[in-house]
Amino acid sequence: MHTLWVAVDQYINDLFPSDPTLDSVLHLTREAGMPQINVSPVQGRLLYVLALACNARKILEIGTLAGYSAIWMARALPVDGKLITLEVDPKHAEVARANIARAGLAERVEVRLGAALDTLPQLAAEGAGPFDLIFIDADKINLTTYFDWAVRLARPGSMIIADNVIRGGEVLNATSDDAGLQGVRRFNKALAADPRVTATILQMVGSKGHDGLALAVVRGEH
Ligand code: SAH
Ligand code: DHB
Ligand code: MG
Repeated sequence: MHTLWVAVDQYINDLFPSDPTLDSVLHLTREAGMPQINVSPVQGRLLYVLALACNARKILEIGTLAGYSAIWMARALPVDGKLITLEVDPKHAEVARANIARAGLAERVEVRLGAALDTLPQLAAEGAGPFDLIFIDADKINLTTYFDWAVRLARPGSMIIADNVIRGGEVLNATSDDAGLQGVRRFNKALAADPRVTATILQMVGSKGHDGLALAVVRGEH
């Protein structure tokens, strides 16, 4: 079944024009020996479409890696738009900055180095928001805390997206001793009961296996 998911994902990707800039980011991620845990090309395109649908002028990302998803989303920004992406690993941040510059997006994208639990309060203190779109894709242990910061840094109507909320179906395993998995389970449960947002959870298959995205829109009063 997995090979069919991959083949269909490839089929979808091949329908669209090839994209040497984004392909080179994936190549350089591998070359740099970084984990290949970026979103897939088809998922990146989904983030791009959603950023356009949100009319996003300000985007926040938590978890940069090599800048692959950041470049997809930043392409949806108007010239005076801004994307801030948070990354804890200095090497990842450095590779990402180079990739973002190569994509011609250095003016619109800021890679901020630090643990998100430190940089999120910084952003709030600076009055950096409200962000129109927030993509959460860092460690899963603190997912619920990141989501709370995302809501604080958003406005009514903002979209918040969280990656990896299905984990190959492992979310069904209530007794898992994987702390990240338990973080995801806590998050999904809290999300469904959160009166501040209207949300859904989308399971997906493709070249990255079986996983999913949580999609939330911030409500008018909270
Ligand atoms: N969004 C990227 C993939 C991110 S992978 C893409 O799709 O292209 C997750 C990233 O989160 C890694 O680079 C990891 O170093 C970073 N990360 C992990 N814990 C973090 C934390 N506490 N604060 C900020 N970034 C963190
Ligand atoms: C992992 C993290 C991710 O953000 C992802 O998309 C896939 C895997 C991980 O930590 O294993
Ligand atoms: Mg992810």
